[in-house]
Amino acid sequence: MTVATMPTSQKPKLRLQNVTKEFVAKRTGQKTLAVSDFSLDVRPGEFLCVVGPSGCGKSTVLNMIAGLDQPTEGSIVMDGQLVTRPGAERGVMFQDYALFPWKSVRDNVGFGLKHGTPGNGLSPVERRERVDHFVKMVGLEAAATKYPHQLSGGMRQRVALARLLANGPEVLLMDEPLGALDAQTRMVLQVELLRIWGEAADHGERKTVVFITHGIDEAVFLADRVVVMSSHPGRVSAVIDIDIPRPRTEHIRSEPRFGQLTDEIWSLIRDEAYQAIA
Ligand SMILES: Nc1ncnc2c1ncn2[C@@H]1O[C@H](COP(=O)(O)OP(=O)(O)O)[C@@H](O)[C@H]1O
Ligand SMILES: [Mg+2]
Repeated sequence: MTVATMPTSQKPKLRLQNVTKEFVAKRTGQKTLAVSDFSLDVRPGEFLCVVGPSGCGKSTVLNMIAGLDQPTEGSIVMDGQLVTRPGAERGVMFQDYALFPWKSVRDNVGFGLKHGTPGNGLSPVERRERVDHFVKMVGLEAAATKYPHQLSGGMRQRVALARLLANGPEVLLMDEPLGALDAQTRMVLQVELLRIWGEAADHGERKTVVFITHGIDEAVFLADRVVVMSSHPGRVSAVIDIDIPRPRTEHIRSEPRFGQLTDEIWSLIRDEAYQAIA
């Protein structure tokens, strides 16, 4: 079954074909079919959100795209190359900040440039300029020498975002990056994220984003398309085009189309969401 794949004339940035993931518990041998027959093309430069009830396999899909885990069956291909391991061209950001507490904002942002392949070929001065550029982009110049414990949750996620971008990935893989933040901070960072992604820039300059969220309104606000997953096992149940023009500003949240799209998506996952907490 091929769901949501594109005509062969267009080259996808990522192609997931019939991806299945079964976990086998080491001690008990118990099997969990987390993801089944998941097929999806991600277009270059698109902002794709994935929503679905808790436990439906969203993180499992993202981890496989990141190369942190391998499919049991099926394939994941980026620019025609099979994904088998993590790579600097695919940057990952999680909910829980994952900053080094003993490093300053600037050193956190520069970590990958100093210790990983993204810094290859850059002089110390160039690295520093690159770090400063991204610290400024996320609005943290004044906090550049602070440490994570001195920052709010929203500021910490700005650091994580700057670090992700400083490493220069082509694809941003984000697993509920705003999930731990309060509602107001989250809305502010959604707008920031679209600005940083390059909403106002040419489509060709934008990075490809796969963004997981349990927030339907967040998905509608951010995405070009929303993939709705169903659970047990995790599958693609629908792909919804978000036909709200860009750039998107706060006022779209109160527009009728915004409400229609969130209602449509909620109706697709409501029953399962209730089952998940029952
Ligand atoms: N390492 C693992 N070992 C066994 N089961 C797992 C593992 N990771 C996830 N699962 C199971 O796979 C399913 C999907 O999990 P996950 O991808 O984390 O869902 P989501 O991110 O949508 O909440 C769940 O039933 C979860 O318990
Ligand atoms: Mg998850």
